[in-house]
Amino acid sequence: MCGIVGVAAKRDIASLLLEGLQRLEYRGYDSAGIALRLAGGELRRLRRAGFVSRLIEDFERDPMAGEVGIAHTRWATHGAPTERNAHPLFSGREVAVAHNGIVENYEQLRDQLAASGVSFSSDTDTECIAHLVALELRAGKDLAAATRDALSQLVGTYSVVVLAAAEPGAFVAANRGAPMVVGLGESENYAASDISALLHATRRYRFLRNGDIALVRADRVEISGPAGEAVDRPLVESEFGPESVERGAYRHYMQKEIFEQAGAVRNTLRPLIVEGLPDHFLFGAELAGRFGDIAAVHIAACGSAYNAGLVARQWLQEHAGMPCTVEIASEYRYHPPPCPENCLYLAISQSGETADTLAATRLALERGYLGVAALSNVATSSLVRMVEHSLLTRAGLEVGVASTKALLTQLVALAMMTLALARQQGKPDQDVRALTQQVAALPDLIEQLLEMDARMEQLAGHFENRGHALFLGRGPMWPVAMEGALKLKELSYIHAEAYAAGELKHGPLALVDDSMMVVALAPDDGLLPKLRTNLEEVRARGGQLFVVSAPRADLGREDGMIVVRLPAPSTNLQAPVLYTVPLQLLAYHAAVRKGNNVDRPRNLAKSVTVD
Ligand code: M6R
Repeated sequence: MCGIVGVAAKRDIASLLLEGLQRLEYRGYDSAGIALRLAGGELRRLRRAGFVSRLIEDFERDPMAGEVGIAHTRWATHGAPTERNAHPLFSGREVAVAHNGIVENYEQLRDQLAASGVSFSSDTDTECIAHLVALELRAGKDLAAATRDALSQLVGTYSVVVLAAAEPGAFVAANRGAPMVVGLGESENYAASDISALLHATRRYRFLRNGDIALVRADRVEISGPAGEAVDRPLVESEFGPESVERGAYRHYMQKEIFEQAGAVRNTLRPLIVEGLPDHFLFGAELAGRFGDIAAVHIAACGSAYNAGLVARQWLQEHAGMPCTVEIASEYRYHPPPCPENCLYLAISQSGETADTLAATRLALERGYLGVAALSNVATSSLVRMVEHSLLTRAGLEVGVASTKALLTQLVALAMMTLALARQQGKPDQDVRALTQQVAALPDLIEQLLEMDARMEQLAGHFENRGHALFLGRGPMWPVAMEGALKLKELSYIHAEAYAAGELKHGPLALVDDSMMVVALAPDDGLLPKLRTNLEEVRARGGQLFVVSAPRADLGREDGMIVVRLPAPSTNLQAPVLYTVPLQLLAYHAAVRKGNNVDRPRNLAKSVTVD
């Protein structure tokens, strides 16, 4: 959840580090800090609670210069989000550490270190690492060996950068279970917890594997494996440049990302449709050879990606007749469902770095699945590198904490996976072709929907002063209702819950009075008459109805109801994608009206890299 960046160069690198921090801030933003090794060998740091901008303002007032340094933006786990607990953490003036992850045995390490006379100046688990490295350095080891031996005493997953007064011109980057990438420049080199921190500096990267230690200097990077042996990690050229994370004329990243959705969906679909049919090789050649054997699918994911999985379950059942189980990844890893024969495991994760999804997938790799696959937006992510087969969405970098274009691209990729499996299960080509056309039409339909923006901005006013909202949907629209509720709560801090509409009278109806906003999703499908009954149940209790519906859906009495009609009718493969868009706009505008920070909602982070 935290962001880490380190630079070694032959020039002052403070501005490079600070720019890296700004680009990483989406990963955690409750405090930030920078530490440099000054020309005389002294380690000096500046840390601030709050956003990176505050750190930069104070840095500019009292700058320092150095050719090697590390920096960090924090999402607090151990210790309050204060300056005292902000990284880099020091051991005396000898060692500085910035860390992402959790040291699970930190209490024990802290007691041991305290017993040997070490005094602590923060409440963090990270400070143990700094003291352990300092002790190893004092025993005469070089920085790489000292870091390796210090890290071998930790339990947990982490990525870390370490700077030492005794090691001029170098810092160390290491990881276990959390991502760390080394960036290669001209006469300067870098490391970061993800490439977005380095896009302004380089496009050439080497991803560290678990247990690797990289000694980073301006003129070279030496990577050693878990036993200290020299290792070579493949050179990867990123397709993304600094422009991928520019906000342009938009007010927020989230707004930009909502408006990029038609293009993102188009880009994702392009390689997945071949001559009007789903690409048989969508997960690569190896899985294609066994596609016909797949008899069931298990999906694990978190947050919006989990909601996408729930939509896919409905599609797989309906169009491919395929049983599908969808688990929240943090549940899967401790309570995995029995693994039936010929079952495909699929992890869905935009970032490919979500700790629970990675842990679930690690477990899945040991469980005898027909194949372990990932659907991710990041080709170089830990998840994609971990699995046997992968399918990539092409949403581009998503910076806003709320998942928007990533979710829509996941949905269309899952629709294509459904159709590829349906074809294997014997659905006639002409039917599959017609369904593929429905999916292929989505980018244009999304473009039309975005024209609703001004109206949604105005309607968001109905939510501004509400404390609670219920979202209702049936079939594949139930997970869309869940997504709508998730968006509203994470951005506007309005308490929102989603229910399968039929569940309303089994409990949640007790909450409905004239202060309750009830958002119902009403595509014109066979379940509309049932939904109409639910609307009447809400109306009878004085609840404020907000209905997002098909253009000509018969909603019964509409007086006192706010009705948003989509411009065109949609099929079962289209509706979950299309109905998500007005709900995104609603949540976005409700949050903006409330003055909330939509790109960085309180207490959240873009990549949840701790469990
Ligand atoms: O990167 P991932 O897709 O694995 O992230 C999963 C969730 O953390 C993410 O979807 C989260 O729920 C978003 N904030 C929702 O908008």
